[in-house]
Amino acid sequence: MPARIYPSLLAADFARLADSVAVVEDIVDGLHVDVMDGHFVPNISFGLSVIEDLRPHTELFFDTHLMMNNPDFYFEQFKEAGCDMVTVHIEVYPDPVPTAEKARKHGLKFGLTLNPPTPVAAIEPFIETVDNLLIMSVYPGFGGQDFIPESLHKVERVREIVDSEGLAADIQIDGGITPHTAGLARKAGADVFVAGTAIFQAQDPVEAVAELRSAVED
Ligand code: DX5
Ligand code: ZN
Repeated sequence: MPARIYPSLLAADFARLADSVAVVEDIVDGLHVDVMDGHFVPNISFGLSVIEDLRPHTELFFDTHLMMNNPDFYFEQFKEAGCDMVTVHIEVYPDPVPTAEKARKHGLKFGLTLNPPTPVAAIEPFIETVDNLLIMSVYPGFGGQDFIPESLHKVERVREIVDSEGLAADIQIDGGITPHTAGLARKAGADVFVAGTAIFQAQDPVEAVAELRSAVED
């Protein structure tokens, strides 16, 4: 699959979200929307009403990363707020099959993710039921952390499974993505590159996206 870049809203100025998105709208492939509940992770970001208010300002795909203890309770509301996909943690749903069904029932694509200490074996039985496999390359909760190099082995392993079974799932990497780490993750087999700090905290977000793009070009 061609490489795609999804900026993470978490690093944008929350008082100027629509403006920040407008700057990169034409040069990125989707928007990564990090929702944190202060329970699953020790941080709180934003929720449904912010997503709903942002929705009319962009046509970008809303890829929603739910760092929450009970995200499925809100699937219908995430759909109504304008989300296109929900990605949940395997640590929250050790058997995510009913969760995937519920997401699809509400017209949402479904992704599965795992924290750095969780092995790929935890998600392996469910890989064929998902649209998106998100490998966390930092501990979820905060932007601006350093990329964990061991995550690359997970990307390689997931790529092996997806290819050997002929699946269409995206392989996404999130956390500490810079042109350098994005290049490494591309070599390991990732398709979708989530970057917060590297884009929204850059002096020139347009230039930052171009640098990421050239680092992941085949
Ligand atoms: C971390 C979030 C990431 C975060 C990445 O909990 O899931 O999406 O925004 O931020 P950077 O790119 O700054 O590591
Ligand atoms: Zn995220």
